[in-house]
Amino acid sequence: MSATDPRLHRPQRIAILPGDGIGRDVTAEALKVLEAAAERWSLPLELVHFPYSADHYLETGISLPPGQMEEFRDRFAAIFIGAYGDPRIPDMRHAADILLGIRFQLDLYVNFRPCKLYDARLCPLAGKSEKDVDFVVFRENTEGAYVGIGGNFKKGTPDEVAVQEEIHTRKGVERIVRAAFEWAQAHGRGKVLMADKSNVMRYGHDLWQRVFFEVAGEYGGIAASHMYVDALCMQMVKAPEQFEVIVTNNMFGDIVTDLGAALQGGLGVAGSANVHPGRVSMFEPVHGSAPKYAGTGRANPMGAVLSTALMLDELGHGEAASAVEAAVAMAIRAGETTRDLGGSLSTSEVGDRLARAVAAGAAAGR
Ligand code: NAD
Ligand code: IPM
Ligand code: MN
Repeated sequence: MSATDPRLHRPQRIAILPGDGIGRDVTAEALKVLEAAAERWSLPLELVHFPYSADHYLETGISLPPGQMEEFRDRFAAIFIGAYGDPRIPDMRHAADILLGIRFQLDLYVNFRPCKLYDARLCPLAGKSEKDVDFVVFRENTEGAYVGIGGNFKKGTPDEVAVQEEIHTRKGVERIVRAAFEWAQAHGRGKVLMADKSNVMRYGHDLWQRVFFEVAGEYGGIAASHMYVDALCMQMVKAPEQFEVIVTNNMFGDIVTDLGAALQGGLGVAGSANVHPGRVSMFEPVHGSAPKYAGTGRANPMGAVLSTALMLDELGHGEAASAVEAAVAMAIRAGETTRDLGGSLSTSEVGDRLARAVAAGAAAGR
């Protein structure tokens, strides 16, 4: 950690942005679990709530006020987000400012998305068990198709032209590829696979090819391989056990992590971290705001809870992080889940049980 590392500040201030739809439902439960962990391990966490959401934007016209991003950057150790997306804002303007704004402006170039099957019964693939689905995706998070560069010509006419550019930089590709290899090395994983579409994207994805294999040369003990992203999707369904670490560009990472979430039981159980090592990071479930489930008690809070585990780990609270993850795994195995995972509990009942398990320390195996 560097001298300016915001994670070193005490107390560690965490910005809480529940967002829209089920983002609010799952955040409430994730906070119960986080507070139970903070209590049990006497963690120096201070939660600060922010109202930025579709409602707030429609009421005030403000997505994120001036100076807010700088405050997150300079005065917070981490940011937790529920989800963004509201049918009343079809262009996702507020989400572009808040969610993508945080990823881009804070330069959180690693979107770390673990894909782990906690119980074989949840896997939609026949004959696969827990050991067959256990990989992580390193999604590039600050460039690619998400840069918003493009435009329309003759918009709304039959002659309309739309241009949407992808940007890939040498620096951007190199740092995410390196992050994937570094993580593999630190976690005893022997393989890193890069997915692109370099057979068609002869400029941008060719850069990925060259940089990936160049960086791979520095990590002799780790096998480096490549698949085109279409083949990767097929192989993720056919033989997910072959994957340990996958690194890919922003949009492909978005797509393959929804597929990965399906392999572990669904979007409700997938968590993620948006990281720039040594800086304030942002944590959020992989799923969206699922408006039809908002406020119904059907949303599974486990993806959000697993995101708090990733956050605790990043903030240096490894024991608490492991206990939170273990509580989720135990609840899944016990069938104490929402309906998407085959259980009959509500969102808040799952949150209550996970919080109790963490508080009791049962989840830590004691
Ligand atoms: P979604 O992830 O919100 O939901 C898709 C489906 O997955 C749901 O209908 C539901 O069946 C299931 N699902 C998702 N989360 C669940 C949970 N916690 N528990 C149980 N089931 C769950 O994706 P969508 O419907 O394509 O998008 C809805 C809105 O969310 C859109 O506005 C979209 O842009 C946005 N979105 C936001 C994020 C984010 O904030 N990071 C991510 C994805 C989508
Ligand atoms: C995700 C989401 C976002 C993305 C959307 C809501 C902008 O799908 O976090 O996976 O595409 O990154
Ligand atoms: Mn997505």
